[in-house]
Amino acid sequence: MAADDYLTLNRANWDDRAPAHAASPDYRVEEYVADPTFIGDVVRFDRPRLGDLTGVRGVHLQCHIGTDTVSLSRLGARMTGLDFSPASLAEAGRLVERSGDAVDFVEAEVYDAPAALGDERFDLVFTGVGALCWLPSIARWAEVVAELLAPGGRLFLREGHPVLWTLDDTRTDGVVAVEHPYFEQLEPLVWDEQGTYVATDVQFEHNVTHEWNHGLGEIITALLAAGLQITALEEHDTVPWEALPGQMEQVPDVFGEWRLRDRPERLPHSYTLQAVKPA
Ligand SMILES: C[S@@+](CC[C@H](N)C(=O)[O-])C[C@H]1O[C@@H](n2cnc3c(N)ncnc32)[C@H](O)[C@@H]1O
Repeated sequence: MAADDYLTLNRANWDDRAPAHAASPDYRVEEYVADPTFIGDVVRFDRPRLGDLTGVRGVHLQCHIGTDTVSLSRLGARMTGLDFSPASLAEAGRLVERSGDAVDFVEAEVYDAPAALGDERFDLVFTGVGALCWLPSIARWAEVVAELLAPGGRLFLREGHPVLWTLDDTRTDGVVAVEHPYFEQLEPLVWDEQGTYVATDVQFEHNVTHEWNHGLGEIITALLAAGLQITALEEHDTVPWEALPGQMEQVPDVFGEWRLRDRPERLPHSYTLQAVKPA
């Protein structure tokens, strides 16, 4: 198998799912269109950490159908969203056409982002919530982030915790079982799964994906090696989607987030990491 086949497989998987995601009530596209002040739950969760974004020049890597990108724009940032899936960007384009938000979208693979963005430099690189697992090398990703940031610029990362990604999500006996690699591996985890993480009746055609986990230490080490300074790291006991189906419950008053029903204090569910490029 060629080294870049993961791009073809993963892009087909996301292209297949993007229209269903945009049509699903879970992505709340109609609320973005109906209410120009509407901000999605993922961004609202981190709003105190994001601070004032007025006038900030931001890029959202792996922006999917653009909902979080629009949310950041509504907090005052001038946003560009980047994704390698044309179908996702078509949905993102339709969203801003209908909502009137001034957000640009660029089609590119993450590792090609600096060239695709015309060597523009940003005050904010935002990414996360199911993004890093699609990238084989966290070191290359960190180099891209560092290259995209202007001096003094900030990386803002909210992501599923790498410990969560190790767990067997098919258990029905309530046991939290470590099944998959924690540390980054050369070879991908290969999945072949119908369905997606939102409510939909659509039957998908492209179901094979290649994914990688990256340990928290590997992520931090990669960012430090790329010359960034870590300014904040918070591990959370909630995650924005039902990562372990049947074993989680939605937490009241935490922006629709999910946590383990039984002793959630055992598990880091997600994290928010911030880093800056020295001025
Ligand atoms: C789960 S979404 C994450 C976005 C956001 N959290 C959301 O839910 O809307 C993952 C996105 O990563 C994109 N993606 C995966 N691999 C990529 C790559 N190598 N380069 C650029 N985009 C990629 C997919 O097309 C998809 O839109």
